[in-house]
Amino acid sequence: MNFKRRILVTGGAGFIGSHVVRRMVQRHPDFLIVNFDVLTYAGNLENLVDIEKEANYAFFRGDICEPSDIEKAFAEHQITDIIHLAAESHVDRSILDPLAFVRTNVMGTANLLHAARSNWKDDQEHRFYHVSTDEVYGSLGHEGFFTEETPYDPRSPYSASKASSDHLVRSFHHTFGLPVVISNCSNNYGPNQFPEKLIPLFISNIVESKPLPVYGKGENVRDWLYVEDHAEAIEVIFLNGTVGETYNIGGNNEWSNISLIQELCSQMDQRLSREAGESAKLISYVTDRAGHDFRYAIDCSKLERTLGWKPSMDFETGLASTIDWYLSNPTWIENVKSGSYQQYYSEQYGNR
Ligand code: NAD
Ligand code: TYD
Repeated sequence: MNFKRRILVTGGAGFIGSHVVRRMVQRHPDFLIVNFDVLTYAGNLENLVDIEKEANYAFFRGDICEPSDIEKAFAEHQITDIIHLAAESHVDRSILDPLAFVRTNVMGTANLLHAARSNWKDDQEHRFYHVSTDEVYGSLGHEGFFTEETPYDPRSPYSASKASSDHLVRSFHHTFGLPVVISNCSNNYGPNQFPEKLIPLFISNIVESKPLPVYGKGENVRDWLYVEDHAEAIEVIFLNGTVGETYNIGGNNEWSNISLIQELCSQMDQRLSREAGESAKLISYVTDRAGHDFRYAIDCSKLERTLGWKPSMDFETGLASTIDWYLSNPTWIENVKSGSYQQYYSEQYGNR
């Protein structure tokens, strides 16, 4: 078929990537969406069964750390654009195994940049969109917000690897004229998130009446964004963002961990018809994460002002629909937990 654009979405089988792939496949029949994913513990093709037969969707099992895999995908699909999400994404894992994060997030991104640069030598329009995190900006105190001008100050191996990849992406724009765009987003939540991150881990533990490990005093603050809102922002930036620019994406929705957990526990009590306060009894304060960033909060006014995007899901509704999704999909949780994840997690953390 004669597609207008042929987009390589890396990490399309993961949490955010699967929402981006579905959205682009459904809304842009004139674009070919090639999901390029090596399927680590976090990649799951079950996330995309509803669209896998669409004529404008293709899956390519490949590793961004292997230049020959990327070359094969370019040759097979004549890739015109990249939306790059593939990464190691969990801070706790980056503390246990920093080099894996350097390999995937830094070297993998460099490999993609190199492939884009060497393949896109024609007059056609191209775009290399790098999906990144607000964690590159470091940690805030009680006041203030990250803007696009905030100096980088990453403090975990995860955020340092993402900061490195952002710098590489910008360097390919400034040095070689590669048409890049970057976005830095706050914490996402919603269906298909691997149950190692706060919200799905706690939902799953509450269902099983297992302890809820709250790091430190639970006072750290995160700005939560519903994953579909992020996918929409990515679509808008991909289509209309200005080459060379960076856009912050956030939820205008700050919660301290402990208040969020209390809200989650109370919704879970209702959904599971448990007595009020039952789930909160599972809260267990544990040793703080090493180097735990205190607060992240995003000023995303540039994106609203220039491209007209703002978050639309209110948190109570988004959390309720996330809980519904996990309760309605116990097999999804079973499947991801019984993979390499389970062994890894129990070896590193004990039986939480
Ligand atoms: P995820 O861990 O759920 O998914 C990552 C995906 O990348 C998986 O499908 C995995 O198989 C794939 N992958 C990993 N290594 C690969 C490799 N070497 N080659 C090919 N594929 C590989 O991650 P996520 O939470 O969906 O995050 C996606 C992106 O968004 C990441 O770049 C992350 O830094 C960024 N981000 C995430 C959040 C968040 O809250 N989750 C917030 C802001 C930005
Ligand atoms: P997480 O979902 O890992 O995202 P990030 O570290 O990228 O912000 O964690 C969100 C917050 O919840 C963070 O402050 C750490 C905290 N947390 C816990 O208290 N207990 C847990 O078991 C996890 C996974 C996170």
